Amino acid sequence: MNEKYQIAIDGPASAGKSTVAKIVAKDLQYVYCDTGAMYRAVTLKAMENGIDVNDEIKIGKMLDDTKITFKPGDPVQKVFLDGTEVTEKIRQTNVTNLVSTVAAQKRVREVLTDWQRQLASDGGIVMDGRDIGSSVLPKAEVKIFLIASVDERAERRYKENLAKGMNVSLDQLKKEIEIRDQKDSTRKISPLTKAADAVEVDTTSMTIDDVVNKILEIVDSVSMRK
Ligand code: CDP
Ligand code: CDP
Repeated sequence: MNEKYQIAIDGPASAGKSTVAKIVAKDLQYVYCDTGAMYRAVTLKAMENGIDVNDEIKIGKMLDDTKITFKPGDPVQKVFLDGTEVTEKIRQTNVTNLVSTVAAQKRVREVLTDWQRQLASDGGIVMDGRDIGSSVLPKAEVKIFLIASVDERAERRYKENLAKGMNVSLDQLKKEIEIRDQKDSTRKISPLTKAADAVEVDTTSMTIDDVVNKILEIVDSVSMRK
């Protein structure tokens, strides 16, 4: 496979997007871009600066001097906000519960979509999010839409939290996931949606390896058609 594709991986919260996107990128020697981390970093910056997350004008202005960068890392990619590492901070519950409000704002989506398109312009990228196949990279050669039942997704988050020493109840996690999915799929601008030409993969009873292999098969099938 000589050509360097754009690979878009979308889907609801905790469907396994970032876990598998990172492995696929490593396998193909592509760049990995976690667009959710960008929306989280913007939300964190607003919160740390005492800006109301509903204040679209102030958040829009704040973006004029905001820089978000990534560095490869194991097991997770490192995220930097204005030069400071925020990899852990952006995953905190208070950021998670407010990020969908910030991500619904027009200016935020315009600016971040622009950065994401620049990062993907040379191809050779795996980008995961909610609107990558439908809006950010409509010409991506490979589009995947990952889903799993909400019970399975809550269970996955629960186990992940336990491993980090956090004990949030399964019911609470399920509720948070449902609220976020609802907000993300009903917002006016580029909502969470499956692009018409995306391949849906239901990962409910699939292991991480199964999902990675399935995506690599899809990439192979695209390269054979070219
Ligand atoms: O990893 P998790 O499923 O918890 O979420 P994420 O990928 O880190 O994304 C966090 C939030 O950012 C989502 O719930 C969306 O509100 C927003 N987001 C978005 O609007 N568009 C994207 N392309 C990626 C994330
Ligand atoms: O990025 P997204 O929110 O879609 O999900 P993630 O953060 O990649 O995955 C959420 C959790 O599910 C992680 O702890 C993964 O290890 C786990 N996972 C899994 O158990 N089985 C899969 N097929 C995919 C992910």
